[in-house]
Amino acid sequence: MVTRKGGTGKTTCARLFGAVANSRGYPVTFIDTDESCALVEWAKVGRDKGLWSDNVDVIETMDDQMVLDTVMRLNDEETESVCIIDMQGSSSELMGMVFEVSDILIVPTRPSRSDIAEVEKILTFIEAYRNEGGQVPHPKVLLNVPERLTASQGRLFEECYDMFGSAVMEEFLLTRSSYNEMDSQGLLNVMAQKGMPGQRKNYASSLDLAAEIFDEATSGELEGKTS
Ligand SMILES: Nc1ncnc2c1ncn2[C@@H]1O[C@H](COP(=O)(O)OP(=O)(O)OP(=O)(O)O)[C@@H](O)[C@H]1O
Ligand SMILES: [Mg+2]
Repeated sequence: MVTRKGGTGKTTCARLFGAVANSRGYPVTFIDTDESCALVEWAKVGRDKGLWSDNVDVIETMDDQMVLDTVMRLNDEETESVCIIDMQGSSSELMGMVFEVSDILIVPTRPSRSDIAEVEKILTFIEAYRNEGGQVPHPKVLLNVPERLTASQGRLFEECYDMFGSAVMEEFLLTRSSYNEMDSQGLLNVMAQKGMPGQRKNYASSLDLAAEIFDEATSGELEGKTS
């Protein structure tokens, strides 16, 4: 998950991908490069509430070598697993390493002028990195969509299609209260099983929506591989 802009949905998207992968039996490793340790804290909360899974780990690091070591270690393991990096994007060494080890780059954005300006910058940066010979996957722009778009937000998203073309994902990250509730609870797939009884169906349907984004993002990457 890459973009230097705050509050675009990186951590939310990371959490959702982790929940979808875990619900499908993949071991999940999150790498949290965020100084605020949002994912580390989240895992603590999830474990305390019993809304976590033994198969899901969080590693906190801002060190590019440690990112590489972690991904290499996971690659060497016999079991296919999913590693999700929540990238804060301040150090260029770290950003370069994350680009190199990633199979998929997701750039979430909200419909604001400054978010979209950042998407443009990050895509340009990635392109330049690739032109210098870097092995970087093509980034996918994920629109983080409010319940009702205002006319000007709608126009901004139109601009995204004009500017970024097929890099824009077909699936949207819709605004869902359950996506926000994960922050203080745990893994959405576990919430759908063991969370507040009156909300479980809601969590399950939100997980299904997230699975569609996950499937679009990973199409071809995880196909045919077993957990
Ligand atoms: N689609 C969504 N539905 C509901 N809540 C959302 C959604 N996207 C983001 N949020 C909420 O908005 C806040 C900011 O989102 P998030 O933490 O994912 O952004 P971020 O890009 O990781 O921000 P930062 O740069 O600060 O780490 C969070 O409280 C999150 O729960
Ligand atoms: Mg975050």
